[in-house]
Amino acid sequence: MRQRTLGSTGYPVSEIGFGAWPIGGTWGDVSEADAMGALHAALDAGVTFFDTADVYGDGRSETLLARLRRERPSDPFIVATKAGRRLPEQTVEGYSEANLRSWVERSLHNLETETIDLLQLHCPPIGVYRPEVLGVLDALVAEGKLRHYGVSVETIEEARAAIRHPGVETVQIIFNMFRLRPADDFFPEAAARDVGILARVPLASGLLTGKMSRDSRFAPDDHRSFNREGEAFDKGETFSGVPFEVGLAAVEELRPLVPAGATMAQFALRWILMFEAVSTVIPGAKNPAQAAQNAGAADLAALTPETMQAVRDVYDRSIKPLVHHLW
Ligand SMILES: NC(=O)c1ccc[n+]([C@@H]2O[C@H](COP(=O)([O-])OP(=O)(O)OC[C@H]3O[C@@H](n4cnc5c(N)ncnc54)[C@H](OP(=O)(O)O)[C@@H]3O)[C@@H](O)[C@H]2O)c1
Repeated sequence: MRQRTLGSTGYPVSEIGFGAWPIGGTWGDVSEADAMGALHAALDAGVTFFDTADVYGDGRSETLLARLRRERPSDPFIVATKAGRRLPEQTVEGYSEANLRSWVERSLHNLETETIDLLQLHCPPIGVYRPEVLGVLDALVAEGKLRHYGVSVETIEEARAAIRHPGVETVQIIFNMFRLRPADDFFPEAAARDVGILARVPLASGLLTGKMSRDSRFAPDDHRSFNREGEAFDKGETFSGVPFEVGLAAVEELRPLVPAGATMAQFALRWILMFEAVSTVIPGAKNPAQAAQNAGAADLAALTPETMQAVRDVYDRSIKPLVHHLW
């Protein structure tokens, strides 16, 4: 597994990381055995970067990562968690010093550690990116509770506002074959400032694995059942904000481009790695087979310029008019 450097943090991180939302919650049932199996399989395949949040399963994925650390003491890895979504409502005032400190203490406890490798503000309102709030994070770094901090954002406008603050070392943003705009409108600025980029929702919530059809059904507690129109949180987090049937049709246009010997999921992940500004891609996985397959994407040969252009053509034709202006 090749490593890239996570911006100014200097952390070497595996090109394919691991997104721990599905083993936390809001994705239907995932047994503890499958969740731990997925984490171990990722480590076995060379993954060294795990993304989680305090709210995934109300801390479940953080505690599973603490268990992974205990079970694999000689395999070092970096854990990035997030804070802010414990607020009942997203307001700038909610990001008070008292709240930030209590969220960090809770994550330290769940992760069974004294220092968080990377704390990300979890898609807060844009007004949170100001010195009063970020100064609290600077203090937490000085106190040794955090090594680094960054942000997770919904929009390019938020990403740009966040990286004006020098303490913000990483940006997590949706980037996949159905979400190309960050490559044009954000990556150059992030690279110029040496900001690390975590590409999330890389499989468009599973759509880009090519396994779904009109008949696909999801558990009632899976966000793919209840958040297609943004009923619970930003609709961009579910199928990347692309209407399901439009996504299915675009997947059929992409399918002939999958390289021989690769799965469509691996193709989708390798496509993201073609962008040098991306530090790591963080696909979610619910079991060992998915985690191993996803990590294997890093072994695929570079895609040709013709393939890259063909993916862009599908986006421009079928997806862009629906989503490009939204995020
Ligand atoms: N606001 C935020 O900060 C935020 C929001 C969203 C995500 N994230 C982070 O980004 C990570 C990645 O995004 P995501 O998990 O939402 O979406 P994703 O990576 O696009 O899709 C993950 C889902 O795709 C399916 N899958 C994964 N690998 C597969 C494979 N090889 N073959 C077949 N199916 C496969 C699994 O679900 P099924 O098997 O059930 O189909 C899995 O749960 C998250 O885990 C989280 O760490 C952060």
